[in-house]
Amino acid sequence: MIFEPIEIKNHLLTNRIVSAPLASLSSMEDGAPSEKSLEIYKRFAASGVALMMVEHHAINICGRTRPAQFLADSDDVATNHSAISTILKDGGVLCLVQINHAGAKIADPAVFDMEGYRPQSPSGIPVGDNWDKLGRKPEVMTLSEIKKTAEDFINAAVRMVEIAGYDGVQIHASHGYLLGQFLSPLTNRREDEYGGTEAKRARLLYEITDGIRQSLKDIPLSVRLGVADYLTGEKAKGLSTDDTVAVARELANLGVDIIGVTGNLCGFGVDRKDSAYFAPYAERIKSSIGSSALVECSGGIRDAVTADKMLRDDVCDFVGVGRLMLQDPDFVSRWKESC
Ligand SMILES: Cc1cc2nc3c(=O)[nH]c(=O)nc-3n(C[C@H](O)[C@H](O)[C@H](O)COP(=O)(O)O)c2cc1C
Repeated sequence: MIFEPIEIKNHLLTNRIVSAPLASLSSMEDGAPSEKSLEIYKRFAASGVALMMVEHHAINICGRTRPAQFLADSDDVATNHSAISTILKDGGVLCLVQINHAGAKIADPAVFDMEGYRPQSPSGIPVGDNWDKLGRKPEVMTLSEIKKTAEDFINAAVRMVEIAGYDGVQIHASHGYLLGQFLSPLTNRREDEYGGTEAKRARLLYEITDGIRQSLKDIPLSVRLGVADYLTGEKAKGLSTDDTVAVARELANLGVDIIGVTGNLCGFGVDRKDSAYFAPYAERIKSSIGSSALVECSGGIRDAVTADKMLRDDVCDFVGVGRLMLQDPDFVSRWKESC
């Protein structure tokens, strides 16, 4: 089943393996790829994965989580990013660019040294370990800043397809970044139209998704959705899969082709040693949305037997692989021999 072809928006994919987005920390100061970035993507292009979600690109300066993160905030920088899409397309990989705003999740406090940077968030609630050291708090976004952020997401998507040459777009709404902060009741305490009920907390994500779909009607569009604030086996807190079932359904209604299932405030499971730890969440989302969108599941998928079983058992339509891509990008040919 792993090597069973699948079609998405007129692109025929020869397998169901997706390279999960992997931030390379290799950006130039202006947010464009460096020589090091191109070397990394040449390796990925030769891996044999059919679909790649290309690491998170900040939609504007305030959306950066660290200075070494790619930017998608201008036409000039998008022109330079075409070097990566060309490498991937020449390698036969369908490539979707991941766009993000980090909000209150700061990986490197050096972002404060960047001109124009301000730490924006839904409700001023810090996310991550750096805030105690910083001795300050994130800012609460005004309504006009929220509208501007939606516009910046949409403009970034358009330029990264039309200028940078990506086949499609993935919106990052997970791992506790800005859109995940809006989704979670733990970080979104707003009392206006962007907070309160699950539908209001998801409103910004819906506006961005709808805007991108209206602007780019034929591209493969994905949302990487942080479906819960806690990992499987942990005590439930905050956002749960019960909340995100409705969000996933609405995203499919808005024209999303692939929903990527991962964690939200709990992250992606960096310390987990168990296998396929988001599979129960993906299964729940897939059974709830039916065939209205395809589901991709990542997190601890390290061998062909597990991946194949997930696909056969209707847990998901694609398996996402992250750290294995870094450790052993030749794994696809080994999986093929074993299937
Ligand atoms: C070095 C590194 C960089 C990552 N960068 C991103 C990223 O840019 N966007 C994202 O959504 N997830 C990112 N992730 C999370 C991965 O996409 C994936 O969800 C995670 O590694 C779990 O999958 P795995 O067990 O196959 O590694 C990153 C993970 C690692 C290890």
